[in-house]
Amino acid sequence: MSYEAKFRVWRGDDGDGELVDYAVEVNEGEVVLDIIHRLQQTQAPDLAVRWNCKAGKCGSCSAEINGMPRLLCMTRMSTFTEDETITVTPVRTFPVIRDLVTDVSFNYEKARQIPAFDPGDVAPGDIRMQQVDVQRSQEFRKCIECFLCNNVCHVIRDHDENKPEFAGPRFLMRIAELEMHPADVADRRNIAQSDHGLGYCNITKCCTEVCPEHIKITDNALIPMKERVVGKKYDPIVWLGSKLGIV
Ligand code: SF4
Ligand code: F3S
Ligand code: FES
Repeated sequence: MSYEAKFRVWRGDDGDGELVDYAVEVNEGEVVLDIIHRLQQTQAPDLAVRWNCKAGKCGSCSAEINGMPRLLCMTRMSTFTEDETITVTPVRTFPVIRDLVTDVSFNYEKARQIPAFDPGDVAPGDIRMQQVDVQRSQEFRKCIECFLCNNVCHVIRDHDENKPEFAGPRFLMRIAELEMHPADVADRRNIAQSDHGLGYCNITKCCTEVCPEHIKITDNALIPMKERVVGKKYDPIVWLGSKLGIV
């Protein structure tokens, strides 16, 4: 059964823009990205939207739907009532290029700043990993880099001034993954705190709430990482060892 949905879509560039109203046909089983594509085909051929897989796996189609950070391709139209106005806006934390497309280069800059996996002198095949360690990495590796978590985190969402010091939950999770990896010999506690702003996170868990891969970012990455940092700072033996340069 088809119906006409009321859509309100943000149109503009980094200088200026406005919400524009459209009425667009919706068919059974469709997702919001289908409607945005129909809008492009029928009424707004110059509407800019980024997407790739339409399967929730490339992380390209991040936007805000009725103010909630979501993937356009994974949000079913059946989530909304037929008389509801559906407002689609670009993610707020990153600068708009045009319409629904934002400049997410902040995230790639942060990714480049994280030192790579460091196996030390251990040769491949020389280490046996416990299943629990494998599973931890696997959870974090489900990340599709949609950056919805970085988009929603209040530390940078309305505070551009924090961006130089705060990598955001996606990359603090990456640091935690490496820090907790039994074969990685680098000590990542200092860089987490001093270079990537772990201390700014006050565990609001908004990142976990919006993650389309349902990764427990806060409970399984950020809190354990905070515990490790605090352990290093306040454990007297660790403190003495670090002063003597042996831990
Ligand atoms: Fe997206 Fe989740 Fe990865 Fe964040 S952790 S970038 S919300 S998939
Ligand atoms: Fe931000 Fe997530 Fe911490 S939303 S404050 S990084 S728990
Ligand atoms: Fe790939 Fe939506 S188009 S995640």
